[in-house]
Amino acid sequence: MTTENSRTAETAGGDPGHLVVFDTTLRDGEQSPGISLDAAEKLEIAEQLARVGVDYIEAGFPVASLGDFEAVQAIARTVGNEPGAPAICGLSRTHVADVDRCWEALREAARARIHVFISTSPQHMEHMLKMTQAQVLAETRAGVSRAREHTDDVEFSPQDATRTPLEFMLEVLRAAVEAGATTLNIPDTVGYGIPWDFGALIQHIRKQVPGDYVLSTHCHNDLGLATANTLAGVQAGARQVEVCVNGLGERAGNAALEEVVMALRIRPDQFPGVSTTVRTEELARASRLVSRLTGYPVQYNKAVVGRNAFAHESGIHQHGVLADRSTYEIIDAASVGQVGRQIVLGKHSGRHAFSDTLGKMGLHVQGDALNQAFLRFKELADRKVEITEADIEAIVAEELGQDLVEGFQLESLEVSGGTVGMPRARVVVSRAGDKLEAASEGNGMIDAACRSIRQATGVESRLIGFTVSSVTGGVDALGDVVVQLEGEGRTAGIKVSGRGVSTDVVEASARAYLAAVNRLVRIRARNEERQVEIGP
Ligand code: KIV
Ligand code: ZN
Repeated sequence: MTTENSRTAETAGGDPGHLVVFDTTLRDGEQSPGISLDAAEKLEIAEQLARVGVDYIEAGFPVASLGDFEAVQAIARTVGNEPGAPAICGLSRTHVADVDRCWEALREAARARIHVFISTSPQHMEHMLKMTQAQVLAETRAGVSRAREHTDDVEFSPQDATRTPLEFMLEVLRAAVEAGATTLNIPDTVGYGIPWDFGALIQHIRKQVPGDYVLSTHCHNDLGLATANTLAGVQAGARQVEVCVNGLGERAGNAALEEVVMALRIRPDQFPGVSTTVRTEELARASRLVSRLTGYPVQYNKAVVGRNAFAHESGIHQHGVLADRSTYEIIDAASVGQVGRQIVLGKHSGRHAFSDTLGKMGLHVQGDALNQAFLRFKELADRKVEITEADIEAIVAEELGQDLVEGFQLESLEVSGGTVGMPRARVVVSRAGDKLEAASEGNGMIDAACRSIRQATGVESRLIGFTVSSVTGGVDALGDVVVQLEGEGRTAGIKVSGRGVSTDVVEASARAYLAAVNRLVRIRARNEERQVEIGP
């Protein structure tokens, strides 16, 4: 038996310096407040994660609901069988029945992993689990052994590790390895870690827990240190990082995929011999897709994928960058896909050319969503001279979001306003073939449009956030509106966001409002269908 863990990631990638990138956007990221993705939206994101080249996709928590189970199963069945596909992972509590259900969802993937977790901190054990240390140890052994009966790729996480007494955590980790865990993930569940302290913890675990396993980090961002802690973990010997696109995740989120990957790429001197197989040119698109489907905007100054990440405002900076990009940029925008490629499509392009272009962009859209997206493209081509990939992605993502749900569709919108007279709006929406119409006055045309939608749909809610930006530059740019709503009545307590794009800001707002209403309705239905009320 070895006395120290010296394994890096040989068994996972065959290369001792290979850093396993474990993406949990579809599981931890989906736990962000207000995010609710359905199976088809998750599939779309999983396809893009495969293009990014992550090693693992944590696709969900199958026992949490039928919806989660079906989404994991669909991803395992499809993306999980594509050539060179990432392995698909599902999260599970230690209960044997949960582990079995998790495997049921995963089993069709070419490569599948079960991720078993249990809380180990005094706070969680006392207030949530109501278990003793002996019981947690027994649960760990039972859950991991059961998972090993299904697959030889088993990850174990002691939840709230950074607030767990060290000796107890080491005991639990040793038990997990003895029961067959091949990856030990150390979650900084509440974002309590400080980089040098977290790095020291990883190093200590490597020394004190013998066996053949890969050590992994899972850092939350409550103190804004998730990426720093993750990198400290890698420097200390961790060879798997758990990350989310755009840093999504519970509360302040998780370490951002794009930040961790680019830090490794730009500073190899700090991580000798360590590398990932991520195709960084796909990062910006992954960021945009996730932002659109979740309704979570990306902050302008977000590292790597924010729209200002490569913008230079001061004259001195502009002068420097024009003379030589390296004066003020350490990342080449093209290397992360942050350069707006222009599409050679115009108002005379046909459906076939449109669909062909989508295919080349890696967007697989069919049926009604394709028809709708094509109509929106034609409208756009009438109004806008230059159409970029970002524009196409925006309309396609919006149409996909609409198509997947038996939701309300915007049929028409008429508004009047200005400095004289009361702003008014009339909308027609449809749902499952029924047309619903309403008209209203408001404080402005946007307010009037949203009030009309509220009347037509009958879904009660309160507006808690509204932002408008543009997809690209120029006066004919697509307006990109994000609306946040808090449900009332039957949807009370649910917070959602919705996104809409159009060259007309009032129309974009109406689309965003309706997308948010559809989300409210969907979450309400999903909550009603939820079998077990649990969450990691
Ligand atoms: O933050 C956390 O502890 C988790 C675990 C389930 C790994 O997400
Ligand atoms: Zn987490």
